[in-house]
Amino acid sequence: MTDRRFIEESFPVKEVGAAAAKEKNIRHGHISTLHIWWARRPLAASRATAYAALVPPAGDELEWQKRRDFIVELCQWENSLNPHLLEKARRDILEAHAARLTGELSHPVTVEDIEAGRAPRPRVLDPFAGGGSYPLEALRLGCEAYASDYNPVAVLILKATLEYPQRFGHTAGRQGDKETRGQGDAQPGTTTSQPSLFDLSAVRTPQSEIRNPLLDAVKHWGNWVLEEARQELAEFYPLDPPLPSPAGGRGAGGEGAIPVGYIWARTIPCQNPACGAEIPLMRQFWLAKKDRKRVALWIDRTRTNTDATDTHGLEDEGKIRENPSDPCSSVSYSFRIVGDGYEPWPEGFDPEKGTVARAVATCPCCGGTVDANTTRRLFQEGKAGQRMVAVVLARTGRAGKTYRVATAADEAIYHQAETALQAKRERLMPKWGMDPVPDEPLPPLGTLGFRIQRYGMTTWGDLFNTRQQLALVTFTDKVRRAHVQMLTEGMEPKFAKAVATYLSTGVDELARFTSVLNPWKVDAEAIVHVFGRQALPMLWDYNENNPLGMHGGTWTNRTSEMLAVVGNLSFASLPSTIAQSSATQLSYPNAYFDAILTDPPYYDNVPYSYLSDFFYVWLKRAAGHLYPDLFSTPLTPKANEIVAYSHGEGGWEGGKRFFEDNLKRAFQEMYRVLKPDGAAVIVYAHKSTAGWETVINALLDSGLVVTGAWPLNTEMQSRLRASESAALASSIYIVARKMARQPTGFYNDVRAELRTHLDAKLHRLWEEGIGGADFFIAAIGSAIEVFGKYERVMDYEGTVVRADRLLDEVRTIATDYAVRQILRDGFAGEVSDLTRLYVLWRWNYGEALVPFDEARKLAQSCGVDLAREWGRGGFVRKEREFVRVLGPQQRRWDESASRRTSETGGQSKSLTRSIADSHEMIDVLHYVLLLWEKGRREELVQVLAETGLGRGEAFYRVAQAISETLPNESKEKKLLDGFLAGRERVREEVGKVGLQGTLWNVSAR
Ligand SMILES: C[S@@+](CC[C@H](N)C(=O)[O-])C[C@H]1O[C@@H](n2cnc3c(N)ncnc32)[C@H](O)[C@@H]1O
Ligand SMILES: [Zn+2]
Repeated sequence: MTDRRFIEESFPVKEVGAAAAKEKNIRHGHISTLHIWWARRPLAASRATAYAALVPPAGDELEWQKRRDFIVELCQWENSLNPHLLEKARRDILEAHAARLTGELSHPVTVEDIEAGRAPRPRVLDPFAGGGSYPLEALRLGCEAYASDYNPVAVLILKATLEYPQRFGHTAGRQGDKETRGQGDAQPGTTTSQPSLFDLSAVRTPQSEIRNPLLDAVKHWGNWVLEEARQELAEFYPLDPPLPSPAGGRGAGGEGAIPVGYIWARTIPCQNPACGAEIPLMRQFWLAKKDRKRVALWIDRTRTNTDATDTHGLEDEGKIRENPSDPCSSVSYSFRIVGDGYEPWPEGFDPEKGTVARAVATCPCCGGTVDANTTRRLFQEGKAGQRMVAVVLARTGRAGKTYRVATAADEAIYHQAETALQAKRERLMPKWGMDPVPDEPLPPLGTLGFRIQRYGMTTWGDLFNTRQQLALVTFTDKVRRAHVQMLTEGMEPKFAKAVATYLSTGVDELARFTSVLNPWKVDAEAIVHVFGRQALPMLWDYNENNPLGMHGGTWTNRTSEMLAVVGNLSFASLPSTIAQSSATQLSYPNAYFDAILTDPPYYDNVPYSYLSDFFYVWLKRAAGHLYPDLFSTPLTPKANEIVAYSHGEGGWEGGKRFFEDNLKRAFQEMYRVLKPDGAAVIVYAHKSTAGWETVINALLDSGLVVTGAWPLNTEMQSRLRASESAALASSIYIVARKMARQPTGFYNDVRAELRTHLDAKLHRLWEEGIGGADFFIAAIGSAIEVFGKYERVMDYEGTVVRADRLLDEVRTIATDYAVRQILRDGFAGEVSDLTRLYVLWRWNYGEALVPFDEARKLAQSCGVDLAREWGRGGFVRKEREFVRVLGPQQRRWDESASRRTSETGGQSKSLTRSIADSHEMIDVLHYVLLLWEKGRREELVQVLAETGLGRGEAFYRVAQAISETLPNESKEKKLLDGFLAGRERVREEVGKVGLQGTLWNVSAR
């Protein structure tokens, strides 16, 4: 390693974190709307770190400030296509690269040489590319991007993100008429008063002055698919006829209505032999729960099936069916829609109370319950069913959605879809060489994130009801036909493949909103997609979307969102090189890349391959024939996926070992392909400092030495509440370099160097506003380069000093620094270890619960043995695997305890440290605060006088520091502030009391 990079010295963590958090709310035009991928990294963070890793550090303070400001501006979402900023960024990067190339090639290389293709651009690799945020930013910054991922679904997304828009997405330059022949006839930029289906004015890029052939084609063929599919599907989503009277009591009126969706409830038979009703499983009964619109489904218990008029047509709407196998059953109830614009709200009705919670069902007829195991058994034995309970409608000319109870006619239409599906299945099966409805098995029971198998679902096709299967198979079929049609019309095959790829991802996006796992979001009156979490949990009541509509989650909606993204991606650059491969085995030569920017998987955070099978099964059907290499396996490959799964033979330990071993192998590969003076930025989504140290060691073992670490909070975190457990920043961006290593370093020298190095570094971290536990993470990150230079560090006795001992050393130095800063210097030396721990804890974690290991390390860096502390009745309390630091109100208040420890010979001290009996500063502070709260001022003054603490400044300074670290609503803060407000008078009164208390040495424990 010869040169330094900006990111090794400094990085605007706060500002970039804020930009990244802001970006999370952006959907329109953002790559996340092209296709879902889990754990996508914000572009802001990727862009900022990529730039900072490719340019040198600033020469002086002024330049530092300028570069810092530039990074903050560059990474904003609004500036993603800002030509001036990008041009400057590219230029900075190329200048630095030219200088490096000059050294590397031993002849002068200029920026012009690179731009003219006489010398290579910086080559940047992401071997865990996923949804492609890093390679995209590398492209944007003028680099050659190389992206690979083990998962074929990710690879397809990468092609749609990093290859096709760059190859086909702009008319200027290379691709000629030949490649773009056969596109649609839309006029980009034409706007009508009613936004058209694919309004290109929204998606044109500054570069695409003329028109974007890729956009035109995807738009045209997207419409083609929709219209073709509509012809076959429309009859299954019939419009509602206009209602006879506008005063129909159902929010009725106007013309006909388009069905937006159908709300279904899963059902099970009541297990009470005297009842036997069909229980609709509903988490709750709201349909719309907004400030000015409250609508709910209500079960009307007054109507039974003995009412003969209730059995047919509209009249039987919403009636709960009795168990048909029980002829004696006479229980039956109807659904009603109640609330604003509907029937009156029944007295005492609470829609929050559903019929099912945690798989325990309650019968609305007899009130009997079905336990969770029985519920699951009924599903597994095929005794569960489903019932359409409501229809959501949109009326032309009327804003908002309306609801009606589902009728027998609605269900009859649904059942017609079965016949149509069967016919289609038989016709397409031989053509596609597989069942059009995905028959691939769901992952085994116990697989991370999957619960649905316990409810009788066994194949991926089971995630879709019959009409949803029909819709998705039809759209898939039309996508395949569109591709054939494009070729027939003479479109260049590579271009046609690109267009068909987008249409296939359109099917995926449709599937995301067209399954039995899509909830209805009552506060937005909108459908929610399946992957709200990185898991597929069971859902009792779901919303079946009408895919032909214009609202959220429909074909129109998904493809127009896609166009906005493709538009944004169509900036001029070289297409990237994309490969499906494991990061443990890359096909690139040694020392090939100038930089590696990557975001590896993290333990068991996301079961990528299993989740992605949801999409793989549809992509295989829609585009598998275009990508035979990617879709050669029945489901996504799993064997080499670097995720710590515990459902295998080795359990959690085995999964963890597999993960750690393979991550290390991936690091070794990175080391191999990185140039000697190349830089790597590795994102690490950490949960504990223990895991953080594992990763550092894995890097060290592979030869990569960490030279910096920036914890980035990309979550807009609010302050932790006491009930929550402490979380660290959402991710750490680690900078690592290849370093020539010396065989041996000596501990004392390394220690001395560590101190000097950290002195400067800690100051920078503090200035950047890195606080709490993140401060230690960053400190450790920037300390490793000191001892990472040596293959081993030994003490003078010849014993090898392990990395964890060095890391403890770093913590101690960082702790000292932090306490000095928190107490504003001066008094740090006057406070005991325990008090330091208390202050630091509040600064780190506020009042939150902290995982034991985390807590232990913090305590250790203050010289406190945590396990000893909680046996002594002090402020440390263990709560299961967490540790809590008690505030004054939570401490044991022992009225009988005597403060005069000297009289009892201090014996009680060694057993438990009663709050009233301790000389420890923090205990005295707590005691004083409690006395203050109880208005026992005289005693308070006495205590402060006796201990001597009330005379000095340190005691008040500590109180002040603790108060500053706590949130306003904290009770402890209120006490502290109350006490501190009168501190001058207290001090005066203490001064008047005799000097009898000063015998005690306060700072010693
Ligand atoms: C944290 S994600 C990357 C997300 C990406 N940075 C983004 O913004 O979308 C980690 C990726 O590693 C991939 N992966 C898992 N095992 C792998 C392996 N052995 N080789 C390459 N990629 C692998 C997963 O498929 C996943 O896409
Ligand atoms: Zn019952």
